[in-house]
Amino acid sequence: MSQPYSPKILGFLCNWCCYTAADSAGVGRYQYPPNLRVIRMMCTGRLDPSFPLEGLANGADGIFVGGCHPGECHYIDGNYHALVSASLVHETLVRLGVKKERFLIEWASAAEGPNFVKIITAFTKQVASLGPLGEAEGLEPGALRERIAQAAETARGRKIRTGLINASREMMKSGDFSRPAIAGLVADKCAKALDEAMGAPSL
Ligand code: FES
Repeated sequence: MSQPYSPKILGFLCNWCCYTAADSAGVGRYQYPPNLRVIRMMCTGRLDPSFPLEGLANGADGIFVGGCHPGECHYIDGNYHALVSASLVHETLVRLGVKKERFLIEWASAAEGPNFVKIITAFTKQVASLGPLGEAEGLEPGALRERIAQAAETARGRKIRTGLINASREMMKSGDFSRPAIAGLVADKCAKALDEAMGAPSL
């Protein structure tokens, strides 16, 4: 009998908040799906947009980034810069035809073990409902993972880097850290370079 599908989820968790929340959830014996494999980072500000793409290219079906709540980053504004990187990941996924629901960035403080459990349980269900990478997309998984690996390379390119730096700079200047505002900045500064490298989104 075949095993029921169980998604592979890769998590990038900030040491000070979300990783500690996950740890305290474990210590408190809260139950949550065992699908998450964790990479601990000191701050989500370290997230390079190529990391989640590499994760998908190498077998993950979903990627979770967890950090401190806005205004509570231990390095002041790292999580705002993570939102810039996350927007680029979303822009890239749209161009690849990958469901944006496979990628999530959210916050949980060190004291919020139950909140972490809620977030990761809901995300695991969401990714499970999409099936293995490629299924909900109607794309052949091997070829799709290859294209995602190429997209990770593109995300490391000079043009995209420059666009991201400019988007971050504008974000800091404006003081508007809302997700729609940041997504708008990233689209403005990076969409042209992404279109040149990958083609415009079909939607
Ligand atoms: S230290 Fe947690 S997001 Fe920066």
